[in-house]
Amino acid sequence: MTPHTVAGSPPTGSRVALGYPLRPPAAPSSVCDAPAHAPNPHRASSAASVTAVIAAAGSGERLGADGPKAFVPLAGRPMVEWSIAAFRAAEPVGSIVVACPPGHVHELGGRDLGVVEGGETRSASVSSALEAVGTELVAVHDAARPLLTSELIADVVATLVGDPGADGAIAATPVTDTIKQAAPPATTSAPLPGVETVSGALVVESTLDRGPLWAAQTPQVFRVEALRRALGADPDRVAAATDEAMLVEAAGGRVLIHPSPPENLKVTTPLDLRLAELLLSARSAQ
Ligand code: CTP
Ligand code: MG
Repeated sequence: MTPHTVAGSPPTGSRVALGYPLRPPAAPSSVCDAPAHAPNPHRASSAASVTAVIAAAGSGERLGADGPKAFVPLAGRPMVEWSIAAFRAAEPVGSIVVACPPGHVHELGGRDLGVVEGGETRSASVSSALEAVGTELVAVHDAARPLLTSELIADVVATLVGDPGADGAIAATPVTDTIKQAAPPATTSAPLPGVETVSGALVVESTLDRGPLWAAQTPQVFRVEALRRALGADPDRVAAATDEAMLVEAAGGRVLIHPSPPENLKVTTPLDLRLAELLLSARSAQ
C-alpha cells in the first residue's frame, strides 16, 4: 500500500489532509472481522489503487435526530465511523476523503483522513470530495450505510477492475417486493360515468416485472474520469441525482452490478437505525 499525493487543490473553505498510509498494523476493527466469502480473482490486481469518498454531509431530516445523521451514535461510535473502519480494512483502498456537514469538519480532525465540507446536495458533496482524489478509481459510499464490509468493497472494486470496458460497478440487491406503479385518480384513465373517487387513494396503473430490478446501494466504484464527466452534466439533473451511477449511466457509461446482501441497508428512518444497531451489535458479538 502506497501513500498517494493529492491532485489539485482542496475546495475553498474546506480542509484536506491526505498522503497517509491506511491500515497500520493496528488491531482490526469489528467491521473487518466479518467472515470472508469467496474472494474475487481480480482483488489482487486492485490493491491500494482506490480512494474512498464517503458522503456524510446530509442533515438526516427523515431520521429526525438532534444532529446530522452521519454523527448519530450507533453501536458505540458515530455512524460514519463504521464506514471509515470498513474502508481502512479494505485491501484496494489507499486513501479516504469524507464530506462532512458544515460545522462538523473538525469532528473527524486528527485522524488519518481527508475531510472536506460537503455541499447542499449529495452530488455537490461528492464533487467536493472528488477534488481531493488522485487515484484512477474512486469508491463512493453513503455514511448512511454503516453495515458495509471490507469484503464487499474489495469485490465491487474487483468487478470494475475485471472489465476494462466498464465505467463503474455498484453494490445492489435484487428487489424482493412486488412493485406497483401508481398515480392519483385524476391522472389515470377516465372515471366510469357515475363513479366518484371517495378515498383519494392512489390507483395502481401497473405491476412491474421485478425480475430485472435491483435496488442500488453503495459502495459505487467508478473510473474517476467517467465520474467527473458525469458530475459535469446539467446542474439540475446532477442536483437531483440520488446516486452517482445514474449520472454515469445518463452520460452513456457502462455500469456493472455486484450483487450484495440486503444487510448493507441504508439508515433513513428511526426503524432503520434500530435494525442497524441490532445487526452491528450482533456482528461485534461474533
Ligand atoms: N449526503 C451528503 N450531502 C448532502 C446530502 C446527503 O453527503 N447534501 C449524504 C448523506 O450524508 C448520506 C447519503 O448522502 O450518507 C445518502 O443520503 P440520505 O440517506 O438522503 O441522507 P440525508 O440527506 O442526510 O437524509 P434526509 O434525506 O432524510 O435528510
Ligand atoms: Mg437526503
